[in-house]
Amino acid sequence: MALIGKDTGAAADCLKNSELVGIPTETVYGLAANALDHEAVLKIFKAKNRPFFDPLIVHVPDADKIKEYAVNVPEYALALAREYWPGPLTLILRKKDNIPDLVSSGADTVGLRVPDHELTLELLKMLDFPLAAPSANPFGYVSPTTALHVNAQLGQSVCYILDGGPCQVGVESTIVDCTNEVPVILRLGGLPVESIVRIAGPVQEEIKSGSNIKAPGQLDSHYSPGCLLNIGLPPSGTWLPDSAIIVFQKKVQGFPEEHQIVLSAEGNLEEAAVNLFASLRMLDEKGYKNAWAELVPDTGIGRAINDRLKRAAFR
Ligand code: TXA
Ligand code: MG
Repeated sequence: MALIGKDTGAAADCLKNSELVGIPTETVYGLAANALDHEAVLKIFKAKNRPFFDPLIVHVPDADKIKEYAVNVPEYALALAREYWPGPLTLILRKKDNIPDLVSSGADTVGLRVPDHELTLELLKMLDFPLAAPSANPFGYVSPTTALHVNAQLGQSVCYILDGGPCQVGVESTIVDCTNEVPVILRLGGLPVESIVRIAGPVQEEIKSGSNIKAPGQLDSHYSPGCLLNIGLPPSGTWLPDSAIIVFQKKVQGFPEEHQIVLSAEGNLEEAAVNLFASLRMLDEKGYKNAWAELVPDTGIGRAINDRLKRAAFR
């Protein structure tokens, strides 16, 4: 059991001592360390059991820090930062030498983001270094959206967990590669593609998996609960006692009501995103062996929800 609280001073002390801290963001909780400290960053990879080929996002307090860690930044990237930071957007930029190779997995780029959470922004402003932070879950498992989720799996590895309440967006940041003339979306996330196009103009999409070296963490199988997840609804007549259904808005007739989890009774995609990861976790907490999940409308943040559901179901 780690220390959990709202004390940014205590969190800062841990980080200055090269220790790990669980931090709240609007997307998911992060497992943070001093991004400029090789030993501290190594602890992140060890705690998560994360392969070294999967680079870490570097969190900074404001957009002014771009010039401290990146070079050759295109105008459209600055425009995106001005419009959407703090917020669920990560920009991939050419890195300066002060970003350790361990953070970028040897690439000449760095992912930068200003998270939209009061406590974490306060913490970042107290520090004279940025924070490398992947989602605070063991590699491949569902991302945490509360301090208790972090404690349940990584409590032993952290010096402190900053409790900022449940995450307000619920899926990870959208990742945009800004190293080409045209922006390339590498990961669907909390900021809809439509919002990026509005500021940056036409984009390309390379939402990849396994073999994609540009976003190596984007494996087909990710966000996976222990329970076997299937996409769609169970064929009628195949109901098993230890199974559950995740639905978008309406429960399905003909299956036990108490085994159905609704993402948003109002049919609101933002609300569905907020509830998504906790619902996947609930499958394991309640000991279900099999589950089905219905895809949501494939628009706005719904695209990120469907991406996560498909990866959670991939075997
Ligand atoms: O919302 C989020 O982005 C959360 C919160 C904590 O900020 N963080 C997060 O980190 O989702 P993580 O480690 O679970 O996912 C980071 C992904 C990597 O798997 C990789 O695909 C991509 O970001 N990434 C990071 N740096 C990169 C780089 N230099 N080039 C390409 N992709 C990069
Ligand atoms: Mg992650």
